[in-house]
Amino acid sequence: MLGVAGGIAAYKAVEVLRGLAESGHDVTVVPTEAALKFVGEPTWAALSGRPVATDVWSGADTVPHVRLGQGAAVVVIVPATADLLARATHGVANDLLTNTLLTARCPVVMAPAMHTEMWVHPATQANVATLRSRGIIVLEPASGRLTGSDTGPGRLPDPPAIVDAVRDVLRRRPSNDLAGVSVVISAGGTQEAWDPVRFIGNRSSGRQGVELARTAVSRGAQVTLVAAHMEVPAPAGVTVIPVGSADDLLAAMHGRSADVIVMAAAVADFKPDALAARKIKKDQLDGDVVLALTTTVDVLASLVRERTGERPIIVGFAAETAESPEHLLELGRSKLQRKGCDLLVVNEVGSQDVFGATDNQVAILGADGSLVHVGRSSKAAVADSLWDVVAARLQPSRPID
Ligand code: CTP
Repeated sequence: MLGVAGGIAAYKAVEVLRGLAESGHDVTVVPTEAALKFVGEPTWAALSGRPVATDVWSGADTVPHVRLGQGAAVVVIVPATADLLARATHGVANDLLTNTLLTARCPVVMAPAMHTEMWVHPATQANVATLRSRGIIVLEPASGRLTGSDTGPGRLPDPPAIVDAVRDVLRRRPSNDLAGVSVVISAGGTQEAWDPVRFIGNRSSGRQGVELARTAVSRGAQVTLVAAHMEVPAPAGVTVIPVGSADDLLAAMHGRSADVIVMAAAVADFKPDALAARKIKKDQLDGDVVLALTTTVDVLASLVRERTGERPIIVGFAAETAESPEHLLELGRSKLQRKGCDLLVVNEVGSQDVFGATDNQVAILGADGSLVHVGRSSKAAVADSLWDVVAARLQPSRPID
């Protein structure tokens, strides 16, 4: 689906439409009312060879705002104006295009175009950051001559580059290869209370777990996200079970029937051995404070012990600090063996800041000796690589791309 918002760069969306249609894609164009002031309906209809969907009222018997979003393999918006970015961020649904964005569960690519002042404005930048945190691919605008005599960032990326980005997205995601697969993912970091106001926590943001959930949904899986104190919102289309501590997480994970379990959460290894019922006051503590800790249950290892057959496929994550790439793999292999899971996604947390970052670099180790390296890429791409490995195990005849 090609969404066209109301900006002068709408005329360049014509070239994107041609590029997509020429590479064999069926494109339905959804222009906003403002976009139609720049390029008229007959142009979109003639070049796409399909009826143009312009409002929620036409063809209401087919419920277009739901049908278009659900049926699309990818939604691409050219140009994504400041107004469209703002409406998409806030879930406003006041025309067919924004309704469609709320019903789409496929990848969404936005190609912004606006004046530099509008692009660099904190409101637009905050909207772009929010959309990206939800997994929407917001392309960087190009720099150069804008509509008037001004120049700067805000120009629509070149139409062939937009077509390439869409092709990449379509290539990366084999359609619906996780259809009918149920997945439980833990994400975020547990907090272990010491008293009613204090806790021991960790720096996990939940971003990798959220990307795993979002990409699994877009590949057709039914996803439950067991979420511990995430900094980012859960993606649309998943069942969320909020948890607080390692014990809560253990209770939420056990007894859940699933084809695949992914333990992406950073679970505390230790918790205070007693929870004070009331806030501990400074004058109750004498001199140096010593906090007595006790170990928590290893949820991953206990899920492996509980399993009776070949399902679920159980995936662990390992955050390690290593001296070298070889040492990292060594640590990963021994952890994989210790935990007894089928796959372990190993990343190094020492050299670069992984926590809270949007990209990641991992090795996916298999209990069968397999090894897949995923070079530095977005957490969404890391998630897709893991699902490729999992999908190949669920359907052994399917080769990994
Ligand atoms: N994990 C778990 N329960 C715990 C601790 C960890 O289920 N109490 C899971 C994590 O979700 C992750 C995997 O075990 O999938 C590895 O976590 P990590 O912190 O790297 O390993 P630890 O077992 O804690 O080992 P160490 O801290 O000694 O490296």
